[in-house]
Amino acid sequence: MNDAKNFPTVTIRPVNPADEPAVHAVIAAAFGQETEAGLVHDLRHCGALVLERVAETPDRRIVGHIAFSRVTGAGAGHRLHVSCLASLSVHPDFQRLGIGSQLVESSLADLRKAGEDLVLVLGPPAYYPRFGFDPVLAQKVHGPYAGNAFMAMALTEAGDNDLPVEVTFATPFEDFE
Ligand SMILES: CC(C)(COP(=O)(O)OP(=O)(O)OC[C@H]1O[C@@H](n2cnc3c(N)ncnc32)[C@H](O)[C@@H]1OP(=O)(O)O)[C@@H](O)C(=O)NCCC(=O)NCCS
Repeated sequence: MNDAKNFPTVTIRPVNPADEPAVHAVIAAAFGQETEAGLVHDLRHCGALVLERVAETPDRRIVGHIAFSRVTGAGAGHRLHVSCLASLSVHPDFQRLGIGSQLVESSLADLRKAGEDLVLVLGPPAYYPRFGFDPVLAQKVHGPYAGNAFMAMALTEAGDNDLPVEVTFATPFEDFE
């Protein structure tokens, strides 16, 4: 893990309340605007977050962040545990070093261990398929989002089989453009 691609070595760890300002700053820096940082804040404080992680350098600087929120399912997949990745951020000074990939892979491993069945994402179609997210699977997930940027990844057999599912996202997404 210490080759050039993965340098600097970061620790992926859960978020503490004291991290909130640094998390806000890294999301705003990555996206170049406040909107996504506001969404994550609202999701956290309405209790919708299923999993949230930061990437921290050895000198304790937070340089990356990822969050997943609860999605409610109805229809054939109403028993599925479904969550949505939003958002993923790496500070511009630390991008293309593998930190985004570490955040995604480590979080997916934790979600799998926790019994999550299906993970959704709305994001760059050139980035997320490398982790197994699939726009074709997402066609069986009916809700407010569609198209190639809307992708799904099953973490269990049920996540693949008990579809279609109609999904409702946490309330803060209603104000999110
Ligand atoms: C997307 C993001 C999290 C990737 O983080 P990262 O640490 O740079 O990613 P990694 O180092 O693991 O992977 C880099 C690869 O992702 C690709 N990549 C990065 N952003 C991309 C994008 N928007 N579209 C397509 N590919 C992208 C890079 O070209 C690079 O490809 P390569 O491995 O073939 O060279 C980071 O660029 C970022 O914070 N962007 C701004 C916020 C954003 O768009 N988030 C995603 C939507 S939720």
